[in-house]
Amino acid sequence: MHVVMAAAEAVPFAKTGGLADVLGALPRALQRLGVDVTVVLPAYAVISRRGFSVQRLDIELEIPIANRILTGGVLATTLHETIPVYLIEAEQYFDRAGLYGTPSGDYPDNAERFAFFGRAIPALLQHLGAPHILHCHDWQTALAPVFLRLDAARYPSLVGVKTVQTVHNLGYQGLFERTHWPLLNLDWRYFTADWLEFYGRINYLKGGLVAADALTTVSPTYAREIQTRELGYGLEGLLRQRRSDLLGILNGVDYRDWNPEHDPFIAARYSANDPAGKLACKVDLQQTIGLPCSPKTPLIGIVSRLAAQKGFDLLAEVVPAMLQRHNLQLAILGTGDDQYARLLGDLRAQFPRQLAVRIGFDEPLAHKIEAGSDIFLMPSRYEPCGLNQIYSLRYGTVPVVHATGGLEDTIAEFDHETGSGTGFKFKSYTASALRACLERALDLYGSPDWPTIRRNGMRADFSWDRSAQAYMDLYRRIRPDASLTESLPITAGCGNPERQDHAGRGRRTP
Ligand code: ADP
Ligand code: GLC
Repeated sequence: MHVVMAAAEAVPFAKTGGLADVLGALPRALQRLGVDVTVVLPAYAVISRRGFSVQRLDIELEIPIANRILTGGVLATTLHETIPVYLIEAEQYFDRAGLYGTPSGDYPDNAERFAFFGRAIPALLQHLGAPHILHCHDWQTALAPVFLRLDAARYPSLVGVKTVQTVHNLGYQGLFERTHWPLLNLDWRYFTADWLEFYGRINYLKGGLVAADALTTVSPTYAREIQTRELGYGLEGLLRQRRSDLLGILNGVDYRDWNPEHDPFIAARYSANDPAGKLACKVDLQQTIGLPCSPKTPLIGIVSRLAAQKGFDLLAEVVPAMLQRHNLQLAILGTGDDQYARLLGDLRAQFPRQLAVRIGFDEPLAHKIEAGSDIFLMPSRYEPCGLNQIYSLRYGTVPVVHATGGLEDTIAEFDHETGSGTGFKFKSYTASALRACLERALDLYGSPDWPTIRRNGMRADFSWDRSAQAYMDLYRRIRPDASLTESLPITAGCGNPERQDHAGRGRRTP
């Protein structure tokens, strides 16, 4: 079975959030189950600048955008050395500092950039040969299933391809003014509520949710929540209509990247059976981030995109009182909206000895915070899955979370009577509920229960295998004809001689 995954980010090539972690890990987990996976990404400038070795293929994609035919180049590289990755090259769209924009806002031509990418995916598949499944992630790739369905005559070799659309976050839909419609080269009759129209605008994600054969999202609870008015962001009706095609599959963790037993970024290694090194990680974090070194003071960590979704409004209400009342420390790493960066800056100025803030994207520091904190705080208003709370479990950092989406599905409330549970959850999204929940955690900090909670979390297993199996079952359901041993039509840059023959056909020297 051959599955092509298309997305706008993937570890280690380009990352703004958890989508990249998923694309870095799920293909490998599927490969372990015998699936042939190929990944398609935009060729962001940052990828070649970071020194990944890429080969330029002798393929010129022809992409219709409005009344122009643009050309796209194709670069080939690999993920984990065995998974072919194709990068769609178009300097005018992807040779920029950011993936989607700058701190002050989105790039103004995102409608065109991702219309181009959406067109480039089927155009590439025409060259490579039809896979059994095209699996698209989020709004940036959601036009690909639309083009396959509504412009099928342009892609005759892809007629049998089945499509899966995964929603990683319904808060980001790719909404654009109707004046952009001509970019898509689709008949105006599809600019209706049944297809891509959404309250007078174009909605790329909606297109994918209508057109794809199967829909998934990243936790079972979120799959239910997005069918409600509260968290459906206007798409709840469509998602309810398609509920029999919609599946919630929990994300997993790549324990090769997120594991205190061999994490290269942290000060000392440790494990559930030998947790002593965690203290050295705490002191190292306090030093690194500029907090007083104090092994006994509870240290709360946050690593987050700075976005409304992540609960900063609650934090603004709760943090000052908590810091006044308790001898505790807070280490925060984030990047995103300026408004939250300013808020954190103000808090830092008020509590310089208790609160440290780093604005920026800093992978080593993200690992140090996971390892060095006692508590990991995720008060997200909503959270499709969330990965940091699952990483925290393995690092013995006890999660305090809002009981929503994947946070609800991955964290079990600690029960003093039975000694079971891995963290603390609050149900209603209010400052008082968050405060009470933090108080519950702080009450137990330093008590004999604390090592038990930590150990429960460290022993939990959220590896990708189970989730990958669920994706494979889904693929099989929509492509019962695809056998696992069926070979790939074509791949490139993979070290397998048979595959290289195919790839060589189209290779040009850089
Ligand atoms: P989301 O995808 O909504 O941002 P997730 O919890 O699924 O949330 O994933 C976030 C991922 O991005 C994690 O791997 C986290 O460590 C990483 N991350 C978020 N912000 C930063 C940052 N400022 N620096 C480094 N890594 C970050
Ligand atoms: C999104 C969600 C996050 C999820 C990630 C990966 O960015 O906000 O909850 O874990 O995608 O699926």
